[in-house]
Amino acid sequence: MLPCTQKIADLTWKPKAIILSGGPYSVYAEGSPHADPAIFDLGIPILGICYGLQEIAWQRGKNVTAGDKREYGNSVLHVERHSDKAAHVDALFDGIDIDTNVWMSHGDKLSAAPPGFITIASSPNAPWAGLAHEDIPLYGIQFHPEVTHTPCGGKLLENFAVKIAKCQQNWTMEEFISKEIKRIQAIVGPDSHVIGAVSGGVDSTVAAKLMHEAIGDRFHAILVDNGVMRLNECEQVQATLNQHLGINLSVVDSSEEFLTKLSGVEDPEKKRKIIGNTFIEVFQREAEKLTAVHGKAIDYLLQGTLYPDVIESISFKGPSQTIKTHHNVGGLLENMSLKLVEPLRELFKDEVRKLGTLLGIPEDLVWRHPFPGPGIAIRILGEVTREQVDIARKADFIFIEEIKRAGIYREISQAFAALLPIRAVGVMGDQRRYDQIIALRAVTTTDFMTADWYDFDAKFLKHVSNRIVNEVDGVCRVLYDVSQKPPGTIEFL
Ligand code: XMP
Repeated sequence: MLPCTQKIADLTWKPKAIILSGGPYSVYAEGSPHADPAIFDLGIPILGICYGLQEIAWQRGKNVTAGDKREYGNSVLHVERHSDKAAHVDALFDGIDIDTNVWMSHGDKLSAAPPGFITIASSPNAPWAGLAHEDIPLYGIQFHPEVTHTPCGGKLLENFAVKIAKCQQNWTMEEFISKEIKRIQAIVGPDSHVIGAVSGGVDSTVAAKLMHEAIGDRFHAILVDNGVMRLNECEQVQATLNQHLGINLSVVDSSEEFLTKLSGVEDPEKKRKIIGNTFIEVFQREAEKLTAVHGKAIDYLLQGTLYPDVIESISFKGPSQTIKTHHNVGGLLENMSLKLVEPLRELFKDEVRKLGTLLGIPEDLVWRHPFPGPGIAIRILGEVTREQVDIARKADFIFIEEIKRAGIYREISQAFAALLPIRAVGVMGDQRRYDQIIALRAVTTTDFMTADWYDFDAKFLKHVSNRIVNEVDGVCRVLYDVSQKPPGTIEFL
């Protein structure tokens, strides 16, 4: 993975193929990133995706314009076969249905095919949704093959990498585990200690288990209760890590400290910063206590960084592309002169789950929906108080309990209840009351970069709504969010 502005002359190796990814810019806008034109002189297969397609069209004919309609979400792609042309033209869509669902997310589109290219796929809003050069393996597609909502995406990428670029498929998870354990042992050495924060999420738990396999009791996990975790979550995580996985775990109840600092704060980015900074302070105190106990400095910090974070950190950064500040423990590295170990940095979430299963982590935890570091605080729109946390937590617990009971937890990638900062009228026991509103959100995705809302049965929603209104004091209405991402992010804040 290299930044799109990489100069080919600076590479010390020759790629077998290049994929130009999507991006949020317009190729014709001032300051937008452009690929080195030398990529076209390498004589290797190139696939442009969305912005990548537009970049190819821009460099080879300037045929890109602002679309009259933005296109976000599902679209039906019509594949065009050309058996009379060179074999590589049809190779990209080999084995893919003529009419197939794809995910689109673009504003600009092609106004014409650049010279030498022919159409290999079209959609109602993008007549040049797929292009191939007639003579050389140069392709562009307007849709996103890398997201779950393009079911044929995996096949298309496999066609490109294996059939067209002749790469070998030789990576296995079993091999990854043994190599990664050896790599961790080599980095940490025979004496050093490592600390890591666990949240109960799959990433930190899998990273902790891998570290425990590599260095045993020289790994110390810390669970910080920030007061905005889910109902009963701390107890459950403690039981699993300590008893089931045998990991050294200290639990710190700092809920009071967090909630005091959050009092009066409504701005989501401020909430994130307060939680992130307080977390660092608490974690640092706990690490110092551990150091005192072991009489030996802790040298390394374990972090469950995944590949999407790595992508984000090396992406071209134009003006204001930070969508949300994500909570991370980076500050610890500077404050405590710790060195970082990131065993999951080459993996995506679905791969972390496979790894977790292979490492013997209970199913329940491996498949747990992701939960943001700032927790329920970014699901409470408005001020975060103990009372508000209590309402959001109880509603969330009921929603998740019913989802599990209905046997659909694994079909849904992430589900939660958010508490809205407005009141609406309700009639309860013949009395008119202004009570709060819960919004339910449930989405399907594998990469969390795009997401679709989950299509519940109406009876299910009715039942959950009844339970929440009856069992959670202070709530009189329940709404279900039917927004796709993009444009609606998964979280409300
Ligand atoms: P969005 O809301 O950006 O969420 O569509 C995508 C995924 O990221 C999670 N998320 C966060 N995780 N700290 C985290 O650790 C955060 O501040 C944060 N904000 C969003 C979100 O739950 C979803 O899985």
